[in-house]
Amino acid sequence: MTGSIKVFLKRCKHSKNMLFRLIYHICLGLFLLFRFFTKAGYRSELYYGFRYVKRYHQRSSFTLLNRYPRLFTICQHFFEGRKQLRILSFGCSTGEEVESLGGHFPEAHITGTDINKRSIRIARTKYGSETKNFIHSLSSGFQKLENFDMVFCCAVFQSTANRTSHNNQISDWAFEQFEASLQMLDQKLSKGGLLVIDHCDFRFVDTSCAEKYETLDVANNRIQRDRPTYDRHNQKISEVSENDRVFVKIRP
Ligand SMILES: C[S@@+](CC[C@H](N)C(=O)[O-])C[C@H]1O[C@@H](n2cnc3c(N)ncnc32)[C@H](O)[C@@H]1O
Repeated sequence: MTGSIKVFLKRCKHSKNMLFRLIYHICLGLFLLFRFFTKAGYRSELYYGFRYVKRYHQRSSFTLLNRYPRLFTICQHFFEGRKQLRILSFGCSTGEEVESLGGHFPEAHITGTDINKRSIRIARTKYGSETKNFIHSLSSGFQKLENFDMVFCCAVFQSTANRTSHNNQISDWAFEQFEASLQMLDQKLSKGGLLVIDHCDFRFVDTSCAEKYETLDVANNRIQRDRPTYDRHNQKISEVSENDRVFVKIRP
């Protein structure tokens, strides 16, 4: 039933008939209003999205426990035998990524950071502990943090509009913003550490800091996804993405 409604609305959206397009927009408006009044998470995405508009990347807070099992395993093998690791989860949402990393690295100290203060509060309540802490990404406390052995930034450097609108030839957000965040994260990662990037609109290799990194040569690092890729001029260059996700920092 829900499936056939979705198909009907999709047809209305792309219909040449103005009346059908109007039906689509009215339904969308009602749906968003319903979401706004019933979902605090959605309200917080709108509020912080507006408040930190120039700093925001992905607005959606969607996350899951153990969302990246293959990536976690790759990193576990890389750090085999090392216990006192310092890990950063950038764009940690409500903390599930930090909790999952904790399962794979029980003796590590893991910091989760996010731009959405509501998500940080939830993460602290659900998963905060002696080894897992959460901090707002625009706080002075976060700015001072450094010497991480691994930085995870998954599903942060993307905009939903780049995937849902077929006509997005130019990225909905700027490569410049992506590169600036990577430069900031690069400063926080120690030489010999791992940078992990997944679900991304741009390519890490296009950034100025990529020359300090080497792709980790292991199975399952490279992945093809059914999502567009944009270049450093924000132009769409492909309807699919095929990227490596784990990089070793070889130069300070
Ligand atoms: C889709 S969630 C990803 C959560 C988790 N990393 C995962 O992969 O399951 C994206 C998160 O990135 C956060 N985010 C967006 N821009 C950010 C920024 N500039 N600094 C820190 N977090 C940001 C959002 O608030 C949101 O919680």
